[in-house]
Amino acid sequence: MAFQGAYLGHGVGLRPPHYTRVIEEHPAIDWFEIISENFLAPGGNPRRVLRLVRERYPVVMHGVGLSIGSVDPIDDGYLDALAALAFEVAPAWISDHLCWSSFGGHSVHDLWLWPMPLTEESLAHVVARVAHVQDRLGRPILLENVSSYLAYRHSTIPEWSFLAEVAARTGYGLLLDVNNVYVSARNQRFDPETYVDAIPAESIGQIHLAGHSDEGNLLLDTHDRPVCDPVWELYRRVVRRAGRISTLIEWDEDIPSLERAMEESRMAAAVEAEALRREVARSGGSHASCWSDSRGPGP
Ligand SMILES: [Fe+2]
Repeated sequence: MAFQGAYLGHGVGLRPPHYTRVIEEHPAIDWFEIISENFLAPGGNPRRVLRLVRERYPVVMHGVGLSIGSVDPIDDGYLDALAALAFEVAPAWISDHLCWSSFGGHSVHDLWLWPMPLTEESLAHVVARVAHVQDRLGRPILLENVSSYLAYRHSTIPEWSFLAEVAARTGYGLLLDVNNVYVSARNQRFDPETYVDAIPAESIGQIHLAGHSDEGNLLLDTHDRPVCDPVWELYRRVVRRAGRISTLIEWDEDIPSLERAMEESRMAAAVEAEALRREVARSGGSHASCWSDSRGPGP
């Protein structure tokens, strides 16, 4: 099975401070991404809110608890709960992270997700587990590249090649977090343009944009501020090569007003439109047809 996602436009994360205004005022937002774990419990206010949101907007389920790279057994009970939520919500797709976040039954559920050792052994391990998850959920999933603060001495494969190979072997889609690429590139001292240029365009199903904090010798993926200029520039580069891709602004700490979140999402739409105009002009219009596919109409 191969991932094929529709183009949803520009979304924002559905966060509790905005619940009431979203369900009462129906703001002009293309789609919402939810944190799956916050809605797994059947019933209750979160599921009520989600049903109301889903009546008017496309919704995407984004999880943090899959731990696809762990050597712990995959939690099939968790997958069944995800499947039940997906049955009720009918999300455009289900995503998580290409990382490990559990060991020996202990889990972390925050932004400190551990990167994969980039070896043939871990590649085969992840491929088998992605296949299991996709079979259990009955659909291809998306996995996101995580921000990293360390690298393993025994890694032998560039991260971008690892992601592409998992896509080739499993048909999963890549949730390309452009901010995470930038954060990892600065921390690990590699070229972020090399990374995004090496990702097969057809495997990118969604994009994340977010802000990070600069601690001097380390960037931290904090999701607590606007997207910075170098990340906007990297996003431009991805759009010019891959076309329009459903894009989400992540803002999870110091959550701003709904207006501010929407402003950041409109900025992403404007950057996308400008990048596409420039690329069409550069190519003499020959690229326009490439973007008139499942990702929606061309510019
Ligand atoms: Fe992300």
